[in-house]
Amino acid sequence: MSDLVRFGVSIEAELLERFDQEIDKKGYSNRSEAIRDLIRDQIVTEEWASDDETVGTITIVYDHHTRDLSANLTHLQHSFQGEIKSVLHIHLDHNNCLEVLVVAGKGQLLQHFADQLVSIKGVKHGKLTMTTTGSAIPTKGSHQHIHGTEHSHSQD
Ligand code: NI
Repeated sequence: MSDLVRFGVSIEAELLERFDQEIDKKGYSNRSEAIRDLIRDQIVTEEWASDDETVGTITIVYDHHTRDLSANLTHLQHSFQGEIKSVLHIHLDHNNCLEVLVVAGKGQLLQHFADQLVSIKGVKHGKLTMTTTGSAIPTKGSHQHIHGTEHSHSQD
């Protein structure tokens, strides 16, 4: 386990009360974990802003009957400078498709790619989820493993 450090924080009572309400809604059992997650989220945001290599997912929903849409989507994906690790495609109903792309590359490149995909005519909704390769964030608890070897993902 990485070393845990305790530190005191001065905060307005009203602000803390508001924070406690929010984290209670989200299901946190204590403030410490909520604060740790906020810090991690901030680090991820910085990682994207600093244009480091990172990973994310782009989810789009579109009507595949829209003229030129499939060709535009294919063209865009082929000209993408980053790496498309995987694509999940679901035929939702007669008209609608849902696609999830797992993408890797520099943060701003991924952001730009997501914007381009979402703005294609016929794409009804789209969202980029920025996440992290994890290297900039200390591991939660002591769970660590090397990919490609036998391991379970149960929490320690
Ligand atoms: Ni489909």
